[in-house]
Amino acid sequence: MARTALVTGASRGIGASIAEALRGQGVCVLAPPREELDLSSAASIAAYVDHAACRDVDILVNSAGINVLGSLEQISDLDWARMFQVNLTAPRALLQAVAPGMRGRRWGRVVNISSIYALVTRERRVSYSSTKAALLGLTRAAAVELAQHGILVNAVCPGFVETALTRQNNTTEELAEIARSIPLGRLAHVEDIASVVAFLCSEENRYLTGQALVVDGGFTCK
Ligand SMILES: NC(=O)c1ccc[n+]([C@@H]2O[C@H](COP(=O)([O-])OP(=O)(O)OC[C@H]3O[C@@H](n4cnc5c(N)ncnc54)[C@H](OP(=O)(O)O)[C@@H]3O)[C@@H](O)[C@H]2O)c1
Repeated sequence: MARTALVTGASRGIGASIAEALRGQGVCVLAPPREELDLSSAASIAAYVDHAACRDVDILVNSAGINVLGSLEQISDLDWARMFQVNLTAPRALLQAVAPGMRGRRWGRVVNISSIYALVTRERRVSYSSTKAALLGLTRAAAVELAQHGILVNAVCPGFVETALTRQNNTTEELAEIARSIPLGRLAHVEDIASVVAFLCSEENRYLTGQALVVDGGFTCK
């Protein structure tokens, strides 16, 4: 029987490419739009996970994320809370909701999309780096708890990917400079990230869990 995946943030960017890659592997993909699942709202998450289809989820990919730029002195409590809600609390809530079904079937794959900014950072990424580093903590702790049930939990840390989020947070000059500083000489295409995620979610992944796979063209090696 075909596996079922829940992919957040699948309306565009990396999440859309992950949904497409999983469909290519014969997976039935649930890709709720924001009107159906708003990750900034605990009530919306609670209503969505009440949905019967959630019990059938074998694969969870938490790809949705936001990045409100701000220096330590600029960030507001409201933006900080909003970023933690979408980037960390929502992935935890969804994992909690789908884990019992995975446990019952003794098979599950979870991938959290973190960032190289969980490992290195840059000015005005105080909140973003904090949320993405915390997501690695969630990944490792959940991997340890769920391994006995056949559930593998990993994170992928993309570098610079050609998406709306990247264009929104970098000028054209900055993007050209970034491309020059990446050993592979270019930003990632969304498919470069999606293919790694698809592997982690597949039957082929039998022994990788609790890891943070850095997919950055060699950027953080320098
Ligand atoms: N782009 C990069 O270079 C890069 C690098 C490292 C890590 N990442 C991470 O990769 C993930 C995907 O990034 P991306 O570049 O593909 O982002 P993107 O193009 O900005 O897309 C963000 C996705 O998240 C969804 N989303 C945002 N807030 C939401 C909410 N409150 N409820 C439901 N959905 C929400 C958006 O839905 P709507 O269409 O409804 O807005 C959209 O589908 C993020 O976690 C990001 O932090 C990206």
